[in-house]
Amino acid sequence: MSSWHFVKQFCREPRTIGAIAPSSSKLANRMIEKINFERARVIVEYGPGTGAFTRQVLKHLHKNRTIFFGLELNEHMNRIACAQVPEIPIFQDSASEIRKYLRQFGVKHADAVISGLPWASFPESLQDEILYETQAGLRKGGVFSTFAYLHGLVLPSGIRFRSKLKQHFSEVKVSPVVWGNVPPAIVYWCKK
Ligand SMILES: C[S@@+](CC[C@H](N)C(=O)[O-])C[C@H]1O[C@@H](n2cnc3c(N)ncnc32)[C@H](O)[C@@H]1O
Repeated sequence: MSSWHFVKQFCREPRTIGAIAPSSSKLANRMIEKINFERARVIVEYGPGTGAFTRQVLKHLHKNRTIFFGLELNEHMNRIACAQVPEIPIFQDSASEIRKYLRQFGVKHADAVISGLPWASFPESLQDEILYETQAGLRKGGVFSTFAYLHGLVLPSGIRFRSKLKQHFSEVKVSPVVWGNVPPAIVYWCKK
């Protein structure tokens, strides 16, 4: 079911969706690896789509003491996300609005942000805007996890994106390749 939604939406809006299949649980595990669930009070997810990463976060989340919400821009994907992971609020808005939603929850910063965004299909100005807002919305020492497909890493846009991460965050680590994902991917773990 999730895969069908993806293909349909990818055909309609390839630049916003950026993938033809949901991420695997192997990639989802790598995405959440650096989150300290014992200490995290606020976690934000960008582009939850069909909820591949969301479900993994929910397995570890202390629901009574951690705020967890999503920002999903695509109207159709937002409806699917709300239906598939009704445990959390998912707002139909851009990731660049993270600080607006943090304020609505009465907090200034998130402890962790995980991103399913298709960076490679974004114009540079949107990449810059979202990265700026993300680092501004994270607490010092907070972690930002995002992924990139292996085949895109050697392209000029992939190289440029990696250097942007290094400009915005004090530490950028790269995971081993997740071969079990289609297509294979790596995770960037960035620390503010
Ligand atoms: C590659 S899909 C990832 C879905 C899911 N997290 C996964 O990994 O299977 C990218 C998602 O990001 C959403 N998206 C694209 N641009 C966005 C933006 N500026 N803010 C929030 N979500 C966005 C798309 O609608 C899509 O659902």
